[in-house]
Amino acid sequence: MFITFEGIDGSGKSTQARRLAEHLRGRGHEVVLTREPGGSSGAEEIRRLVLEGDPDRWSAETEILLFTAARRDHLERVIEPALKKGQVVISDRFADSTRMYQGLSRGDLRATVDQLHTMMIGREPDLTFVIDMDPETGLARAKGRNGTEERFEDFGADLQHRMRAGFLALAAEFADRCRVIDGNRPPEDVAAEVAAIADRALS
Ligand code: ADP
Ligand code: TYD
Repeated sequence: MFITFEGIDGSGKSTQARRLAEHLRGRGHEVVLTREPGGSSGAEEIRRLVLEGDPDRWSAETEILLFTAARRDHLERVIEPALKKGQVVISDRFADSTRMYQGLSRGDLRATVDQLHTMMIGREPDLTFVIDMDPETGLARAKGRNGTEERFEDFGADLQHRMRAGFLALAAEFADRCRVIDGNRPPEDVAAEVAAIADRALS
């Protein structure tokens, strides 16, 4: 079972991915908790290239290539080996993030993202939690963290609004695997809903 968390910056993906991993381990599953961009040593190096330094360092097209290269390494070295061993893989972001951030943020590049995905990744998660949240709250939460990474949150509220709408449209497009979760609740309430859905999917 390959489970991903998606949503705007600060929506609570990392928190919920961690909680779900703990929950499933408690139920006896072997769980690999990972994240993108990154998740393997090569992909973590690419993460530094895309998230640090001048935000205009790369064109949108170059970013698509870099995120996809990172994903390919992550898939080959971490995700697929774990799934082959019967482990549950939980990833904080995956290809839907590229469909949104590189596909929508600077013009319509969704077709390019999808073509490269088909050619180089060719795999979708079994279950995707799209954590929905109003962008102002998400931005405020995300800004509460400090760090050197230039994130898309730095592009401001307008982009966050478009990303939120984009993620909801994506959940409708991939309705078979996506579940929209209201992230504007205490973390334990969000976690309980996520755990119930995951338990059902795993049984
Ligand atoms: P993401 O991975 O989506 O960017 P995080 O899980 O890192 O989000 O959460 C961003 C910040 O918001 C963190 O400081 C986290 O502790 C806090 N947070 C997460 N979930 C909630 C919640 N349901 N309510 C309030 N604060 C939260
Ligand atoms: P992440 O560490 O998940 O940030 P956050 O916890 O704030 O949600 O991701 C870092 C940034 O990378 C985030 O702004 C979204 C962006 N991103 C892309 O633009 N494309 C991608 O394919 C992925 C996986 C992430």
